[in-house]
Amino acid sequence: MEATRYSAGSTIPLLSTTLSVIFSSRCAFMLKQSNISIDVHLDNRDPDAVREEIRAGLLSTPRTLPTRYFYDERGSELFEQICESPEYYQTRTEHELLKTVADDVVARTGADELVELGSGAATKTRVVLDAMARAQRLRFYVPLDVSEGIVRRVAQELVEEYEGLQVHGVVGDFLAHLGHIPQGGRRLVMFLGGTIGNLGPEAVPAFLSTVFDEMDRGDSFLLGVQLITDVARLEAAYNDSAGLSAAFNKNMLYALQPVIGPAFDPEAFDHVARFNHAEHRIEMYLRSVRRQVIPIPELELTLPLEEGEEILTEISTKYTRHHVEVLLARAGFSPVAWYSDPHDLHGLALAQKPFG
Ligand code: SAH
Ligand code: AVI
Repeated sequence: MEATRYSAGSTIPLLSTTLSVIFSSRCAFMLKQSNISIDVHLDNRDPDAVREEIRAGLLSTPRTLPTRYFYDERGSELFEQICESPEYYQTRTEHELLKTVADDVVARTGADELVELGSGAATKTRVVLDAMARAQRLRFYVPLDVSEGIVRRVAQELVEEYEGLQVHGVVGDFLAHLGHIPQGGRRLVMFLGGTIGNLGPEAVPAFLSTVFDEMDRGDSFLLGVQLITDVARLEAAYNDSAGLSAAFNKNMLYALQPVIGPAFDPEAFDHVARFNHAEHRIEMYLRSVRRQVIPIPELELTLPLEEGEEILTEISTKYTRHHVEVLLARAGFSPVAWYSDPHDLHGLALAQKPFG
């Protein structure tokens, strides 16, 4: 992966900590605090392109909104609460699975650097960091997430929890900013939680190829996937009785406000989540509770919605082992190991970028 280079710096003493404001060669803003550095890339987005992406989605069939807007501060908090809800079995299952396989993963990969895409609260990450520490290989952690607050919080927590750990946070989009992951030692790149299922089928091969291209030969990739299971269990996970999934879905309309203003009234939409059998995926929608005409001056758009009309906010694809292995092989990876829980709810595919 391409190295992040720092071209200029100035140092400001603050209490006992040294903070230095540094600009990388890509003009990204960085704040370096002892063994933490944070590299922010989202501000580099072209606002016109962002608005055009939203506009095009709203005018497409079905109407869509970009899934990454779930994860503002409130959305990230709601996701953490969903992970603890009784219905959302996915996080617990992957966490338990990781506990049983983390030592094996570390032994097989020889990794001393952990890169995590869509790292979120990094709760399960600790299981892998602990295994690396046990193997006396823990050196460097690189969380990459679109949610700046959570990257900063996790960086701070982890340097306090793991003595000597260096954390380089990348605030960015894993579909656009993988080139900003610094080059390092022997890397294990993780993409957990089944977040790959939130990418469209057309985006997955390109994403995996980019991950592969950005890795060095001999680096490893650990991919967490949600496996196909019974529909009742799946639909319950996205329709929890506490209403957390509904709040998470509607929160996107607040998260969009800095970009498109307060055009959408979240109370004018219902949360809908259902399984699409043909595509083997959960689809989440915001359904208009009444006929409404929504002026969105920021998009130069007036959006008419019928009562019951739906806007697709998320897909969450469920996989089989075979499907995952085919996707990884097509991207160039060699299979190393497949792990799953006793009920085959969640899978972890370990693969390597071959040496030659
Ligand atoms: N890995 C964690 C979190 C999964 S939730 C777990 O397994 O529990 C998905 C995470 O991906 C969130 O933290 C969200 O902020 C992040 N995310 C979503 N879309 C993203 C994108 N396009 N680029 C970078 N991060 C993204
Ligand atoms: C992050 N991702 C894997 C979650 C999922 O299950 O697709 C996001 C989520 N959406 C609603 N609940 C959870």
